Amino acid sequence: MKIFLDTANLDELRKAAAWGIVDGVTTNPSLIAKEGRPIEEQVRMICDIIDGDISAEVVATESKAMIEEGRGLAKIHKNIVVKLPLTRDGIQACSALSKDGIRTNVTLCFSGNQALLAAKAGAYIISPFVGRLDDISAVGMDLIRDICLIYGNYGYKTQVLSASLRHPLHVLDSAKAGAHIGTMPFKVLDMLFNHPLTDKGLDQFLKDYAKVFQTAGSVR
Ligand code: E4P
Repeated sequence: MKIFLDTANLDELRKAAAWGIVDGVTTNPSLIAKEGRPIEEQVRMICDIIDGDISAEVVATESKAMIEEGRGLAKIHKNIVVKLPLTRDGIQACSALSKDGIRTNVTLCFSGNQALLAAKAGAYIISPFVGRLDDISAVGMDLIRDICLIYGNYGYKTQVLSASLRHPLHVLDSAKAGAHIGTMPFKVLDMLFNHPLTDKGLDQFLKDYAKVFQTAGSVR
């Protein structure tokens, strides 16, 4: 599964990029607004840090304006994927931009039927929101399983991006379900490293080594 970071924060992106395990970035209007710079500027800086798909979302809501805005976003950098909401206008814009060879990420997906529409419109990525379904007492991960099944049944090329991941178990379950991509906040990515037995084991290895090869005052 590809790992994307769900943030527009440059410090977080730089830290994670140094680990060499980040395949791309998703942003949305809320995440861009948090950083306080216009989207074109912020997204260009993100492209300088991460070499992978970078989703940049339109804020227009009418198809013609979405298409125009999407074309503008796609011109910022070759790695930009134009993010569109799963509305009638968004799907219309997705069809038009896909026909032009512009890659799209259809976002705010909450049902298998919506995902089917996005695939038919030629979406490059579909973004089902796991955490937001959990928030309303629906099982978000069932949607990932449903979409993987539906796309597999018909051989749709659209990649399933498991979004709104709030904790490590969401990441594990997305990978088990067969999602192509999981996008997560920096905090969740950082938590994936943790295991008490790793810490305990390393501590013991170093202590055992030091007992034999390092005595006080002697350095190899
Ligand atoms: C995905 O593209 C969205 O930006 C994101 O995953 C939403 O997550 P949230 O529900 O935690 O805001």
